[in-house]
Amino acid sequence: MAPAVLWLLTVALLSISTSADVQMKVANNPADQLVDVLNKNRTAHKASSLYNNAGLACIALQYIKAYEGDCGAVGGADAKKPADSEFAATFTPNCGVQVSSLSQITGRLLGCQTKYVKPSEAFSEILMKNEKSINIVTDKNHTEVGAAVSGSDGGSPYFWCVLFSNGKANSSFTFEGGEPRISTPGCFSGANDECSGTHRSQTLYLWPYVAAALVTVGYGLGL
Ligand SMILES: *[C@@H]1O[C@H](CO)[C@@H](O)[C@H](O)[C@H]1NC(C)=O
Ligand SMILES: *[C@@H]1O[C@H](CO)[C@@H](O)[C@H](O)[C@H]1NC(C)=O
Ligand SMILES: *[C@@H]1O[C@H](CO)[C@@H](O)[C@H](O)[C@H]1NC(C)=O
Repeated sequence: MAPAVLWLLTVALLSISTSADVQMKVANNPADQLVDVLNKNRTAHKASSLYNNAGLACIALQYIKAYEGDCGAVGGADAKKPADSEFAATFTPNCGVQVSSLSQITGRLLGCQTKYVKPSEAFSEILMKNEKSINIVTDKNHTEVGAAVSGSDGGSPYFWCVLFSNGKANSSFTFEGGEPRISTPGCFSGANDECSGTHRSQTLYLWPYVAAALVTVGYGLGL
């Protein structure tokens, strides 16, 4: 390997481990941070700030899990999405959310990338890549939001999912027994829990950089 390349690699590795450390300390929960970025964008567009609903967010994490780590199924010609029946049949019971409290999903954003990025970058560089996405984010019909991020096994690839609903904040997507059921791996918003399950070790963190090919897929769907 030429010395210049080696030097570059070393610098890359150094900066990665530094940013991983910072991430650990600063990030309490990347899903909550994503909601924060999204709500700031909404209010900047004169739309209301949305209620961060943990039940809806837990369902967003189940939505991610339905892809079983297959980034290629998120967008493009082979794009798939879980059947609507999955919400009541699988996602809701996995979260311990009361089926009777399900409300309409008024929008969803989903993105997948081999590299872990900060929530603000996931928002602007992955989820908002599609032109329709900004309309979904700023839609006045939403009242609440739930976000989730997960690696399939706690590592790459990283999926980001945001679900929107027009339900009532206090009476939709409520947990049986009132307490959020925390499911892992992955992080979801609204539950006031610290979560860094997406970056467990620096080894996992490294491979996306070493593998030269980056897969980035993002899509948005209004419903
Ligand atoms: C909201 O986010 C979109 C996508 O990242 C960006 O283009 C737009 O400038 C943002 N709006 C504001 C007011 O920050
Ligand atoms: C928002 O709600 C209005 C009134 O209920 C409806 O006409 C419109 O289609 C909705 N927009 C979207 C994007 O769902
Ligand atoms: C939910 O209900 C509680 C008590 O009834 C109230 O204090 C709280 O502000 C409500 N939250 C929202 C988001 O409506």
